[in-house]
Amino acid sequence: MQSVPFRGIVEQSVAGIYILQDEHFQYTNATFAGMAGYSNDEVLGKPLRECVPGYYVAEVMDRYKRRISGEVKSMHFVTHGLHRDGNVVHIDVHGQAMQFRGRPAVVGVGVNVSGQIQRDAELLESRHEYRELASRLNTMREQQRAEYAREVHDVLGGLLTSMKLDVGRIARRSRSTAVRGIAADLNALLVEAIDNVRELSESMRPQALDHLGLGAAIAAHLKRFRERSELRVSLQPPEFDIDLPRWRSIAVFRIFQEALTNVARHARASSVAVRFRRTDAAFWLEIEDDGVGFHTRADAGLQAQRQSMGLISMRERAYELGGTLTIDSAPHFGTRVVLQAPIVASPLVRS
Ligand SMILES: Nc1ncnc2c1ncn2[C@@H]1O[C@H](COP(=O)(O)OP(=O)(O)OP(=O)(O)O)[C@@H](O)[C@H]1O
Ligand SMILES: [Mg+2]
Repeated sequence: MQSVPFRGIVEQSVAGIYILQDEHFQYTNATFAGMAGYSNDEVLGKPLRECVPGYYVAEVMDRYKRRISGEVKSMHFVTHGLHRDGNVVHIDVHGQAMQFRGRPAVVGVGVNVSGQIQRDAELLESRHEYRELASRLNTMREQQRAEYAREVHDVLGGLLTSMKLDVGRIARRSRSTAVRGIAADLNALLVEAIDNVRELSESMRPQALDHLGLGAAIAAHLKRFRERSELRVSLQPPEFDIDLPRWRSIAVFRIFQEALTNVARHARASSVAVRFRRTDAAFWLEIEDDGVGFHTRADAGLQAQRQSMGLISMRERAYELGGTLTIDSAPHFGTRVVLQAPIVASPLVRS
């Protein structure tokens, strides 16, 4: 460090600068020494192996020797340093083999990236927690839906059926045409109510899913959808089945259900096509409409404001299935939602 202008630049640099020779620090600027909580004088002459945590000594010495020996000229990596308070600091270093005072040395530049590494770790951790929470919420939601579906079907459905029987008795026993007319109206209303209850209970907990399998449940749902909407609906192939554990078929069904609900609510489409395809290892379920479409990216911000959960929940379920959800959409070009997921070995009988 004889050259005075360079010395000033090196010493004031916001990047850490160091020289290693004979496995010892021969020079560090204040920034580099400060990363480990020392002044430059304190680091001067310190052995390299004492400046890294025990688990990292072998690795750092190996890297040092490979450069000193000339095997590699320079290396760029994140090293682990030992702070004087005992904590580990992460330093992104770029060190090169050079001659210093006529002998081989490693001269390098380092930037403290501990904050960034900690933030990355925290982000990863919170993403993990978020996924766990989403998955637990889905399980709870399904349990609750199953309970409500049973209540609605058994209690409400049962009551309505008894009422329908009673209305029938009234109609049979009355001689008054007026009363019989009222009873007939009531009967029609009750038939409609019973249908609605069945439909509600079915959408909360698709019985077809348990009894007939995923393919049949999708076909049945699509049939009801066709009857209610003005849309042209197609299913390719018209019949299929795939043996998945119960929680997985529920997840696939919910994704399908939400995609179809979105078509009905937002797409203003004239047709919707559902396609299923599989190999031995994976399957694809595609729901495509020819409606108004939307900006998938720009809408991400709007969604957060409106707190719409459909797309988020579809993505989470796809993730739980170990798969991915792709949404292709653009204004005036319709929307295509594709679920792709692996077929994981499942028990022969659904529980
Ligand atoms: N098939 C589609 N065609 C056109 N726009 C769509 C389609 N699917 C989704 N969108 C747009 O994406 C937005 C977000 O959909 P998402 O399902 O997340 O929310 P939502 O349906 O509005 O509310 P919910 O939380 O009840 O599902 C919708 O509001 C709509 O603007
Ligand atoms: Mg929706």
